[in-house]
Amino acid sequence: MLTIDEINNIAGVDGMQARAYTDPDIFELEMDQIFRRAWIFIGHDSQVPNSGDFIRTRMGVDEILLVRQPDSSLRVLSNNCTHRGTRLCAVAQGNTKSFVCPYHAWGFALDGVLKAVPDIESYPGSFDIKDKALHLISAARVESYRGFIFASKATAGPNLYDFLGRMTEAIDNLLDRSPDGEIVMEGGHFSVRYHGNWKLHHENANDTVHPGYVHESSVTSARQAEGGVTPQDELVDRGQTKGMMASNGLTAKDWNAIELNGLPQGHSFMGGFYKSGLLAPQQSDAAIETYREALEASHGKEKAAKILGMDRFNNLVWPNLNVNAQFHQIRVVYPVAVNETIIKGYCFRLKGAPDEIFYRAVRFLGTLVSPASMIFSDDLEIFGRVQAGLETGSLDRLDSRRGIKTDQKNGNALQSTTSSELPLRTQSKAWRHWMSPDT
Ligand code: FES
Ligand SMILES: [Fe+2]
Repeated sequence: MLTIDEINNIAGVDGMQARAYTDPDIFELEMDQIFRRAWIFIGHDSQVPNSGDFIRTRMGVDEILLVRQPDSSLRVLSNNCTHRGTRLCAVAQGNTKSFVCPYHAWGFALDGVLKAVPDIESYPGSFDIKDKALHLISAARVESYRGFIFASKATAGPNLYDFLGRMTEAIDNLLDRSPDGEIVMEGGHFSVRYHGNWKLHHENANDTVHPGYVHESSVTSARQAEGGVTPQDELVDRGQTKGMMASNGLTAKDWNAIELNGLPQGHSFMGGFYKSGLLAPQQSDAAIETYREALEASHGKEKAAKILGMDRFNNLVWPNLNVNAQFHQIRVVYPVAVNETIIKGYCFRLKGAPDEIFYRAVRFLGTLVSPASMIFSDDLEIFGRVQAGLETGSLDRLDSRRGIKTDQKNGNALQSTTSSELPLRTQSKAWRHWMSPDT
């Protein structure tokens, strides 16, 4: 355990010390203090709709099973057999009545209770199958907000609603965008792995200076493609991909004008930057009009306009979720090791919206976050370079002072007036809080 002085020094107000990204001991402490205690996003209701449905996923470095119980409640169970620690379940998802270990066939009920032990007669009297120590370990708290499921292994701490704070607005907006008020995770997911620390993802997602440089090649290609949206683009995707690539090429002045918000719990979000093309909020075509009509039928004209007009990008729930309500998708951060991270991207189908709206969300995810993405691959390359640079030990402390003097208070949040590094400072404050021995 680090002392409070050490924590405050590592996450200094002007920037994090490099060892927060390279020291395996600090990573281990983060898994304990943050990923086993704060609210960690686990999955969505629609992944486990029925009794016995489960997904195998991770909470920090711990493998877990998210399981729908017969009474429709949820459990988050350790995926390690209590006999000899074997990984219990090896499939990604499914439906079952019990979990049976592949090694010696100990059988566990959906709530993790040990129910069957072959050859139980040969155990001594001290062995009690009802012993709670033999049950699969359950996360102490599982809560969901409108279908978004989070877990914490700590018995105490803020409730999920308080933890999310204003980030509930992003989840509400995603739900509100569905004419039927229901969303379903669909279409599989993308998974990418980068050689770099987990913190680099959220630090980059609301960084409004990097796109013009890091994504320059795709901006240039999109601009060089002749004829704006050509008949061929029109046929393929109505120019969506080209528009996405070109959008990172705003001028510095325009990036400066995009608002950034940092919330006390470490969360942050930025204003939208698709100002033209198919993805701009005010865009219209046949599919969007059919969708808008369905939304207006549910919410009325005024509220529908407000819902569609909420123009925010990368709503970052610290430490591991990124909600892009406007494009019906999320990204989830999975730390693997101090210098290794997996990012997964998922899409939602809005119930009651035309199929084309879902296809656009899938296309958006493919363009932005697939392993073949012409945008995210740039970011991953940079994460690798940051990590490699920090691992040389030549830099003691990263600098995150940009905008520190001009950020303004807005209630209990901070708001930028420039391309501020405010989200980084927000995240480092949350890091200090959870890493502190007193929290
Ligand atoms: S390790 Fe699971 S039953 Fe033996
Ligand atoms: Fe980027």
